[in-house]
Amino acid sequence: MRAHALIFLGAPGAGKGTQAREVARHFTIPQVSTGDILREAVKRQTPLGLAAKAKMEAGALVPDEVVCGIVEERIDETDCQKGFILDGFPRTIAQAQFVDRMLQAKGRGLPQVLDIEVDEDLLLKRLTGRRTCSVCGEIYNVHFNPPKAEGICDKDGGKLLYRADDNEQTIRQRLEAYHKQTSALIEFYRAQGVLHEVEGNNDPAAIAKGLLEFLSQA
Ligand code: AP5
Ligand code: ZN
Repeated sequence: MRAHALIFLGAPGAGKGTQAREVARHFTIPQVSTGDILREAVKRQTPLGLAAKAKMEAGALVPDEVVCGIVEERIDETDCQKGFILDGFPRTIAQAQFVDRMLQAKGRGLPQVLDIEVDEDLLLKRLTGRRTCSVCGEIYNVHFNPPKAEGICDKDGGKLLYRADDNEQTIRQRLEAYHKQTSALIEFYRAQGVLHEVEGNNDPAAIAKGLLEFLSQA
C-alpha cells in the first residue's frame, strides 16, 4: 500500500463499509468510519450524538466542522500512525480540502481514493436488506449475504440490528445528499490523479480480491 490514507468513496450502500473492513483486516490498519462514530455517539447520547441525531435521521449530512473535528481527533490516536482508512469521509469538497491540509501538515502526501461504483437500482435493496452485528460489526444482507440463522451473527451469536436510517424515505434523502454534495468528489480526486474506480456490482468477495491485489501493487 503506497498511500498513508485510503479513502473509500461511493453512494450509500455501495459497499464502502464491507470493503473497508476487509482492507483494514488485511493491512492491519484502522477503519475510521464517521458513520460508525456518529452512531455510537447517538447511542451513548453524548453532546456530539445529540447534535448529529436529527440530521442522520433525516438522511442529511452532519455539518462539516463537526465531522472534521471527529476525524482529526481520531487519526491523532496512535493506532493511525502507520496508516488508516477513511470510510464515509470526506463527503463534501470542504471536507476533502480539510483532508488535504491535514495530510500535508503531517507530511503524509496525497491520499489514495477508491470509488466504489454500483448501479443506482441496486442500492435501495442493499440498504433495506442490511443487518449489522451488535457485537462485532459484521455486515450482512438478507437478500445477498444472509446469516446462517435469521437475526443472529454467524461469528459470535450477536444480535443483528437494522439501522434506523435504512428505511426507504431516509434512503432517498441520503441518495440525494450523495448526488448533491458528495459525487463532486469523484472529479476532485480524478483531477489530483489519485482516483481508482472499483466495479461494485460484483459479489463482495470478488471485489475484495481485486482491491487487495490493486493495493498490494500500488
Ligand atoms: P454512513 O454510515 O457513512 O452511511 P452511508 O454513506 O449512507 O453508507 P452506508 O454505510 O449506508 O453504505 P456502505 O457503502 O458502507 O455499504 P455497506 O458496506 O454497509 O453515514 C450515515 C450518516 O452519518 C449520513 O447519512 C450522515 O448523516 C452522517 N455522516 C457520516 N459521515 C459523514 C460525513 N463525512 N459528513 C457528514 N455527515 C456524515 O453495504 C450495504 C449493504 O449491501 C450491506 O447489507 C452489505 O452486506 C451489502 N453489500 C455490500 N457489498 C455488496 C455486494 N458487492 N453485493 C451485494 N451486496 C453487497
Ligand atoms: Zn458478530
